[in-house]
Amino acid sequence: MTENKDKILEYWDFRSSDYHTEYAHCMDEEIDLWKSILSEILLTDKKVRAVEVGTGHGILAISLAAMGHDVTGVDLSECMLEKAAANAREKEANILLVQGDAEEIPLKDGEYDFVFSKYLLWTLPQPDKFLLLTY
Ligand SMILES: C[S@@+](CC[C@H](N)C(=O)[O-])C[C@H]1O[C@@H](n2cnc3c(N)ncnc32)[C@H](O)[C@@H]1O
Repeated sequence: MTENKDKILEYWDFRSSDYHTEYAHCMDEEIDLWKSILSEILLTDKKVRAVEVGTGHGILAISLAAMGHDVTGVDLSECMLEKAAANAREKEANILLVQGDAEEIPLKDGEYDFVFSKYLLWTLPQPDKFLLLTY
């Protein structure tokens, strides 16, 4: 890992304890909102295999899993993934959580139907690498 990436990881590990906590009291409402947005984006009733990169506390991944889809959440920060796992347990959502770097993510052709992320690109030193890997 580069020195920059080490600093970025340190920052997100640190942020994991308070990230999004101001919305914890309305997690159900947030999940319902994301479910309705995601159903408009997906345009299919079939089960999709999806991966959310930079999942953080996992709210988006949990929302999609609650709709019956197969969802993997990837994040650079193990601390963030622990928060995502706790949220998934609380909401009884079955998501696979994997530590990984968006700029090196080993996505195989045909492995997923849907790759998505929210608030990730700005924190990547080389966002084009992630975009090319997911294209
Ligand atoms: C602004 S937060 C967004 C979290 C979540 N997607 C959301 O919308 O609340 C950025 C997330 O990206 C993760 N992240 C940062 N660099 C990453 C990288 N190179 N690969 C994967 N995840 C990364 C951070 O650990 C953090 O969880």
